[in-house]
Order: sequence, then structure tokens, then C-alpha cells
Amino acid sequence: MTSMNLLNEISIRYPEAVSFAAGRPAEQYFELAAVHRHLDRYVEHLRTERGLTEEAARRLVLQYGRTKGIIHDLIAAHLAVDEGIAVPAESIVVTVGCQEAMFLVLRALRCGPEDVVLAVSPTYVGLTGAALLADLPVLAVADGPDGVDLADLRRRLAAARAEGLRPRALYLVPDVANPSGASLPLELRRELLELAAEEDFLLLEDNPYGVFAGDERLPSLKALDTGRRVVHLGSFAKTALPGARVGYVVADQLVADGRGGTALFADLLGMVKSMTTVNTSPIAQAVIGGALLEHGHSLRAANTGAAALYRRNLALVLEGLARRFPPGGGVTWNEPRGGFFLVLTVPCVVDDALLERSASEYGVIWTPMSHFYPGAGGEHRLRLSVSQVDPATLDRGLDGLAALLAAEGLRGSDNAVLGRGGPGLTRGQLPG
Ligand SMILES: Cc1ncc(COP(=O)(O)O)c(C=O)c1O
Repeated sequence: MTSMNLLNEISIRYPEAVSFAAGRPAEQYFELAAVHRHLDRYVEHLRTERGLTEEAARRLVLQYGRTKGIIHDLIAAHLAVDEGIAVPAESIVVTVGCQEAMFLVLRALRCGPEDVVLAVSPTYVGLTGAALLADLPVLAVADGPDGVDLADLRRRLAAARAEGLRPRALYLVPDVANPSGASLPLELRRELLELAAEEDFLLLEDNPYGVFAGDERLPSLKALDTGRRVVHLGSFAKTALPGARVGYVVADQLVADGRGGTALFADLLGMVKSMTTVNTSPIAQAVIGGALLEHGHSLRAANTGAAALYRRNLALVLEGLARRFPPGGGVTWNEPRGGFFLVLTVPCVVDDALLERSASEYGVIWTPMSHFYPGAGGEHRLRLSVSQVDPATLDRGLDGLAALLAAEGLRGSDNAVLGRGGPGLTRGQLPG
């Protein structure tokens, strides 16, 4: 929980530093006028396509509302158009951002002290925070080169059960993940679904960046899910407006209703939601609903400009890294197929102290990967976010990063890995 605060604090203290830290969407496409236009479009839809009277439309948007939300039908249409996911609108709960969706699901899965959730590590910190609030322990599963290490997952499941624990679900971001940038290959998605059925656990698929995962998009887990194993979490923060704070969860599983019958998992989540945020602001939902209507329910169509911008930024950062860090110099990175993030592996120890030095002495901010590991891990890795990269300052930022890592290489002996003779940058590799 301190990670976000640390980054905010560093950004405030060093406003001149070039930041590769924030995972926020680019602001070029924010438009106040669009908020009004989308609101009007949604209200017009209520009147003309849904046949509501003026008064009923006004009430729907301005009054307390349905706990599970009012734009579930439009979200179902969007999932069909963009993701090939066919689910009934009733299985969707519209939430206050994806963050609330994560909390509702984890809280609902937490029935007793034996319940645990598994998470592919490194993990988005919002998941770890929500699990903490839901009092649900998080067990880390290795990501491996492909995004999830199935052998490690099997081991963790067996070990948890041997300890009397009940693994309820595995959380993961299969497409251009935050923080790793990794995307699961198709075959691995299928194997994961099979394993979830075999071992009887749910897959919590978080998908905020799928729209930006490149042209040859792989099917989401939910699109491949024939056995209702996948709870799909979505966010409009990156594809529409983060300020609207609208997300959703698709929960089409059948669960015991406590009265001897069954209910949709979405209805159970609705009950938890009624005790947390009552309902997601219908005004905010109307704005998102209008945006979906304006683009024929397609966020891909709505985001062609933003997607091109992120693609360009990613390419610029990858080129900039390649120019500064020649092969064999001890600095490596992954090349994600899209999205907001990539990860650098470096010879020196990456911690908050290094970040502070990076900001104050080298004018560049990034995120230590160790913040994303529920246990130990990531001590030699840092995350770069490309979403808000400005080509005018990019080179200054990467020069700062290269100078920092070169200086750390020269410090050598006080660095645990370099002290053991690990790979390091040499003076010959100093930038420029
Ligand atoms: C993987 C992941 N899940 C969820 C969220 C949160 O989404 P929201 O802003 O809709 O709560 C983020 C935001 O950065 C994220 O990266």
C-alpha cells in the first residue's frame, strides 16, 4: 500500500524529473465537451431506443439506482464486439473502477480462514491491496517466461491444499500485463483453463489493457471459457475516462444462494456491493454508456488514436534503450506486444533508495519491481511505463537512467551482485 504513495511523493518532490512511473493514460484525448456529449447521447438512447419517458430517463441517471448498474447491456454488447465474449447482461456488475470489482470478488470468495487466492507474481498492487482488505491471503505463483509457470502453479496448489488451505482462484492479467508487459501465448491460455477445471479453481482475468495489446490480439480467457471458470474484470479507465471511475466484472458462474438454490455469482457480488458503494454513479455510467454508443460499442474503434500513440511510445522507448545499452552489458528488457509497460533487468539492486537517487541526481523516475511481488522478488528489475512518454523529454529521461546505471556499475563493490562479480556496466558503456 505504500508503493503508490511513494511514487506520488517522489513525483511531487521532483517535478522536473522525466517520469516513466505513472501507469496513467495519455491525456491528449481527454475532452470536457465529450463528457456532456456522451451524457446526452446516453439519455437520447434511453428515450429513443429504450422507450423511456423524459422523467424516467432523468430518474435513471440522477436517482439512486440499480446495484448491479445501468449500462450492463451496453457492456455486454461491447464485450461481444471487441472481445468475442458472449455473456448475458445479467452476469455483469458495473463497479466503481476495476478496483472495486477486484475487492467484491475477493470478498465474496473469502468464506473462511482456509480460503486463499493465488496471483501471478509480479502482481498489480491493487489486487494485493484489495486482498488485504478482504482478509484473503495472496500466494505468489511464478510468471516464468510466458506469463504464468504452470508447473509452479501446480506445486503451489498442492502445497496450499497440503496445509489445509482452499485456493479459490488465480488472479492474472493475460494481456500486456501490469507490471510485466507479458502476454500469455494461446496454448498456455488453453492449458490454464484445463488446469482450472481439473483442480477446481476460478481464473480472475483482469483486462484493462487488452485494447492496446497489438493488432494480432489473442482471445481473452473469458472468450475461450466454455465452463464458466473465468471471472472477467474490466476497466474503462484506460479506454475511456479514468475520472469516471467505472469498471465492471463478468461473473456468470452459478453459486449456492444460501437457501438451497443457486444464483448468479454476479448477484452475490451485487449484494456485497450494496453494502460497500450502494451503486456506481449512474451519471458516470451514462457518460461511459454514451461513449460506447458513439463508437458502436467498440472501444477498439474509440481508441485507434490512443493505441497508435502508445505503440509509438513503446517503439521510441525500445529504440532508446537499444541505443544506450548494448548487448552483453548486463542490462536487458522485454519487448511487449503493446500496452503500457516494460521491464528492465539490471545488474544493481533496485530499491526505493535507488529510485530516490535516480529522481534527485539523474532526473528520471520509474517503479522498482520489488513493489509488485507479494513476497521477495524483483530486486534487479524496474518497470518503465510508456503511456505518458513525451518524445521531447524521452531522451533526457533515458540518458538519466543510463547514467544512473553506469554510476551504480562503478560503485560496484557496495552492490551485492556486482560485489560477487556479477555483470555490470563498464566505463566504455557510458552513454554518449
Ligand atoms: C492491472 C490493473 N487492474 C486494475 C486497475 C485499476 O483499474 P480502475 O482504475 O478501473 O480501478 C489497473 C490500473 O492501473 C491495472 O493496471
